[in-house]
Amino acid sequence: MARRKIIAGNWKMNMTPTEAVALCETLKPLVVNDDVDVVFCVPAIDIVPVAKAVEGTNIAVGAENFYIEDKGAYTGEISAPMLLDAGVKYVIIGHSERREYFGEDDAFLNAKVKKAFASGLTPILCCGESKELRERNAYKDWINLQIKADLDGITAEQVASMVIAYEPIWAIGTGLTATSDQAQEVCAMIRNTIAEMYDTDTAEKVRIQYGGSMNAGNAAELLAKPDIDGGLIGGAALKPDFGKIVNYNK
Ligand code: PGA
Repeated sequence: MARRKIIAGNWKMNMTPTEAVALCETLKPLVVNDDVDVVFCVPAIDIVPVAKAVEGTNIAVGAENFYIEDKGAYTGEISAPMLLDAGVKYVIIGHSERREYFGEDDAFLNAKVKKAFASGLTPILCCGESKELRERNAYKDWINLQIKADLDGITAEQVASMVIAYEPIWAIGTGLTATSDQAQEVCAMIRNTIAEMYDTDTAEKVRIQYGGSMNAGNAAELLAKPDIDGGLIGGAALKPDFGKIVNYNK
């Protein structure tokens, strides 16, 4: 069974609502590709205007973050029902920037994955190693620990429907992309781990993205690898180049 590719932009803390709508207008005609799922994961304040701007297109809207309670006294937070009501389908969970700068640990991320599924959001669960772990060859164990902890208690059916993003921290925003062989090695390993935790059918279904300085120049080579089912793209998602990544096979 061929897995459908999924190309997601992670806008991070970029784009005011006005800029976000302008970027949507620029990108809309460029990101048409019937073979690929396209997602814009945008800052919370941009969700409503972006959802409106992409209405009737092939673009799905994603959130970059959410909180695990539905409502209440959690000043500054945004809930899953709020995201769903605004038209959000995907949510990024466990990005290395949230792990590092906002202290989100695996127990909390596991709660977020559970809450996303309970609410009807599709998680894009991020994992990946630091430069230091890569250099002392400890990256595989590290990533497996992240995956096992973050998916604790998640069913096979849920895993089959979700997205996992392998994002080596040393490649994020650095211009230093993992080679296609390095990215393939880890994406295949993650799929193996899913097969061990669940079964081969689930492992064959889960979509695994690569992220970290993916751009118009390297996307085709990365996406040609058998276990790389898409990309989670930061910097290049804010430019017309994103259209070239989405159309990597044209
Ligand atoms: P980058 O970011 O493409 O700018 O490296 C990727 C990400 O952090 O999701």
